[in-house]
Amino acid sequence: MLSSFLPHPPKWSERQYKAIASLTEEFTLSTAALEELTVEFIKQMNDGLAPPTSKSRKDLAMIPTYVFGRPDGHERGSYLALDLGGTNLRVCLITLKGNHELESHQKAFKVSEYLQHADVSQLMDFIAVSIKQFINTQHINAKIVEHSTNSDTLELGFTFSFPVTQTAIDAGRLLRWTKGFNCPGAVGNDIVQLLQAALDRNSVNVHVAALVNDTVGTLLAHSYKNPNTFIGAIFGTGTNGAYVEDTKNIQALPCSQEQEMIINIEWGNFDKEKTILPVTIYDNKLDRESINPGVHVFEKMISGMYLGEITRNILLHLIDQRLLFDGTSSPKLNKAWSFETEYMSKMELDSSATLIPIAQILEQRLDVQINTQVDREIVKHVCKLVGTRAARLSAVATAAVIRQGLQSGRLRDHGFPLKLNAQDEVSETLTANGLSDGNVTDHVINVGIDGSVYEHYPNFEKHMKSALTEILGSRTGDIVSLGIARDGSGVGAALAALIATKNTAAE
Ligand code: BGC
Repeated sequence: MLSSFLPHPPKWSERQYKAIASLTEEFTLSTAALEELTVEFIKQMNDGLAPPTSKSRKDLAMIPTYVFGRPDGHERGSYLALDLGGTNLRVCLITLKGNHELESHQKAFKVSEYLQHADVSQLMDFIAVSIKQFINTQHINAKIVEHSTNSDTLELGFTFSFPVTQTAIDAGRLLRWTKGFNCPGAVGNDIVQLLQAALDRNSVNVHVAALVNDTVGTLLAHSYKNPNTFIGAIFGTGTNGAYVEDTKNIQALPCSQEQEMIINIEWGNFDKEKTILPVTIYDNKLDRESINPGVHVFEKMISGMYLGEITRNILLHLIDQRLLFDGTSSPKLNKAWSFETEYMSKMELDSSATLIPIAQILEQRLDVQINTQVDREIVKHVCKLVGTRAARLSAVATAAVIRQGLQSGRLRDHGFPLKLNAQDEVSETLTANGLSDGNVTDHVINVGIDGSVYEHYPNFEKHMKSALTEILGSRTGDIVSLGIARDGSGVGAALAALIATKNTAAE
């Protein structure tokens, strides 16, 4: 059974082979497992859409964003945009030209370790001062900025990549910090008000018009170039997705005249109870030692902040069994979070016969001076296991959202020939919809994706696409188009500011 996963490499000892084969089994998700996870994901989406009073599980927050409709590429105007979601703060001036084209000027500011844990007022002051500096150096003023309000105040869209429950497009309270941030004074408070107060305190003449999650920004930005984008997803330091839901299905929302609204799923928190996720001892160790134990377990199996640490946990376990590096670790490798996900990327990319580039990382970055060719083969194999599982889990979330749209949401009338369950045959779906092969799609389902893991991790996209096809059927490649929405957060924030100022002007 084990050997079907892994042929026995010539120089590996029997013990090494057995340990790695069993690890391979643990980290490999079969098509049936993907299907089961997808079904549960859809269930948890619907639980999250249920009214807040219902007793259903709320692992998936399914946050209404108050962004109705999607851009079609004809939007025009210039807006300030702010993007905070990790160690960088970006301030941008985005000019939408109205023909799917845009221009962007931006400056990045480093958010220090200190600020990531300082009182939130210090973080907000830093943001306000960074905006002021950007405005001054770029010589921006309200007169040269075309937008729909005529005031002297610059309008700003804020992409804030943390879970926020919104009550309007320009109001939302932080649910919890993620990705290593932990600034006291923010959870439960309105992020727009906190930023606006800091702008006023620092005499920066800017109005915060809209607050969006980075996934929502990505969806909006991708839609500007590819109308009918259905999902915005991030696979980077963290992971999450937003999609377009039929307002009728959003039970938490009072009756709305609008047909659709973007929902921020906060999918990093899928199955936080670990009822179905294939968590291993390595994932549990990481979760327990993380800054936010017990939440965002799915994110911790997928995103760039964590993949290196899972790998490190596995390597240490192998070392302790004397199956790697002759049983010797280094103080560096013993240190939590020392194994960066970027090392995994480089190691997976190394296809040289002797794996010397892997040796260089082990020696120069991790102080592991003695490593044999077999050690390096094992390290590379472990990286592959962790990276591939992440890509396949990412496909689960994406497939589930598409299926939700096909079954009961905004995609249901299109008749896309995709599998709706494990038994489904594509041909049956075709017949059921009265479609023949010739006219199955008048357009594709666009998914806008941003994030370093998707963009740079070797084979991530390939593994994700093949898992999507396993779940949704053989026509997936023709119908589901995964596209990179680079800088989606900045452009999306500007589009959100445009939507918000238009709404205000119309009131
Ligand atoms: C946050 C999300 C965000 C995602 C990607 C997660 O940790 O909870 O709000 O969209 O990271 O940046």
